[in-house]
Amino acid sequence: MPQLSVQFFQKTDEDPPCIREADLKRPEDCSGNARDRDMESQESVNKCERVPLQKSNVCSRSYFIVVMVFFHVYIINVIALLLYVHYNNGSEAEFPGSSQGFTGSGDTHRSVPKGHTRAPTQHFLPRLEGLRVGHVQKLSLVSDKVHEMRTLSLKPLLFEIPDFLSEEECRVVLQLAQLKGLMESQVMVLEGQDDLTEQLNLSPEEIFSLLDLNQDGQLQPQEILTHSRVRDGIWLTPENLREIYAGLNADPDGNGLLSLEEFRHLSSDAFQRFLQQRGVKRSQLVRNSRHTWLYQGPGSHHILQDLRKRVTRLTKLPSALVELSEPLQVVHYEQGGHYHAHYDSGPIYPETVCTHTRLASNSSSPFETSCRYITVLFYLNSVEGGGETTFPVADNRTYEEVSLIQNNVDLLDTRKNCDKGNLRVKPTRGKAVFWYNYLSDGRGWVGELDEYSLHGGCVVASGTKWVANNWINVDPDYQRQAHYQEMVSQKHQAEDSPEPRPMQHSDAHIDL
Ligand code: OGA
Ligand code: CA
Ligand code: FE2
Repeated sequence: MPQLSVQFFQKTDEDPPCIREADLKRPEDCSGNARDRDMESQESVNKCERVPLQKSNVCSRSYFIVVMVFFHVYIINVIALLLYVHYNNGSEAEFPGSSQGFTGSGDTHRSVPKGHTRAPTQHFLPRLEGLRVGHVQKLSLVSDKVHEMRTLSLKPLLFEIPDFLSEEECRVVLQLAQLKGLMESQVMVLEGQDDLTEQLNLSPEEIFSLLDLNQDGQLQPQEILTHSRVRDGIWLTPENLREIYAGLNADPDGNGLLSLEEFRHLSSDAFQRFLQQRGVKRSQLVRNSRHTWLYQGPGSHHILQDLRKRVTRLTKLPSALVELSEPLQVVHYEQGGHYHAHYDSGPIYPETVCTHTRLASNSSSPFETSCRYITVLFYLNSVEGGGETTFPVADNRTYEEVSLIQNNVDLLDTRKNCDKGNLRVKPTRGKAVFWYNYLSDGRGWVGELDEYSLHGGCVVASGTKWVANNWINVDPDYQRQAHYQEMVSQKHQAEDSPEPRPMQHSDAHIDL
């Protein structure tokens, strides 16, 4: 490569284009007609004497042509750029059934990130700017108050807004939830797991290989722990695992790792039977809370409707998107309650479908997730002790799943290790925090899951804790989202009801 470039420069230096052109002209200009060459030698000489002049003529003409070509290209570029900017400014995100409502919010944040371009036909989801940790932006979300929004982290893009809700609003939401009644957020599913294992029909070797995430031929404690949490929502600690290994004599060499041989000796449901015998307490689940859902559409309490409008203004998203998202989830943690670190939504694979758009299109796939683009979390009371929301890897330089459980320290464990995470938000009545669970796809729509959005609720040390979640669901497949909104809006027109009603959502949290 270096040789090539040296050659290139040498050639350019030796043969500038105008000299080469002059050289090409020389046989004609100098010798003219070959037959007359000898006879008209004097003329030839004369002609040859003119060569330098002709050379310079040819040179300046080609030079002129090159300059003109560059000039035209430049002008065309400028025109293209102007047209591009014009079309970009002209097109707003449009959604079927959208009432496009966030005029007059008067806030200081921009709907289009600086330096972020979009193609003329591209649909665009506004994404707020964090700028830097600690940056404060003033927002006017309600008529008689200016809110301040502080950037808490950039990875994930996370903000807090104190007093987003008034004292009265917190009280009403809490009472409405109590009136409706709350249910256990997680029920134990120890039964039925054997059927699943049978259905899968995998050999012990195949299961071992699937569990052996780093493919080193041994099962590390974190490989077993991560699997158990996804499978049945039981939160095993490294100590629990040692206890189980000892109880089942599963690790005779006592090195804390399971070889294929040791794994084979463990019958497939030994784990389950052990847990069933020992019993599982609520504190040993991924999530230890109770919750309910509150509808926020027309006819609901005006405070719930106001809240949704405020969320629309805050996020600057099209109102149709917010209106078609999940209802408000109100969560109650008693003393000792917790929610171990998790993602509110799941990763997106090519086959992944979103719960909200799947319900409308009737399609199914083994990969389904809730597609919660944004989480807005409200604290409805101030907690006496503990109960912070933790973001263990916020603004970490890197994200590595394996380093989350290391040397007996499990950063995902919010009963034990909240103090070791990177960021904790104190639950204070009326405060809202909100963050993006997905990155941008670079073209203004939803991209990949943001791994840094991992978060959880620390154990409530004293008192109780009430929070509410407003999730905004967006399908990363723009066409599917548009189609869903089109369908809902048609259904709405057919029924002639005042507003489209959202599809029913299940509580589809993705737990680790
Ligand atoms: C949730 C959640 C955090 C908290 O409900 O999904 O992450 O602090 N809650 O309660
Ligand atoms: Ca391994
Ligand atoms: Fe969550």
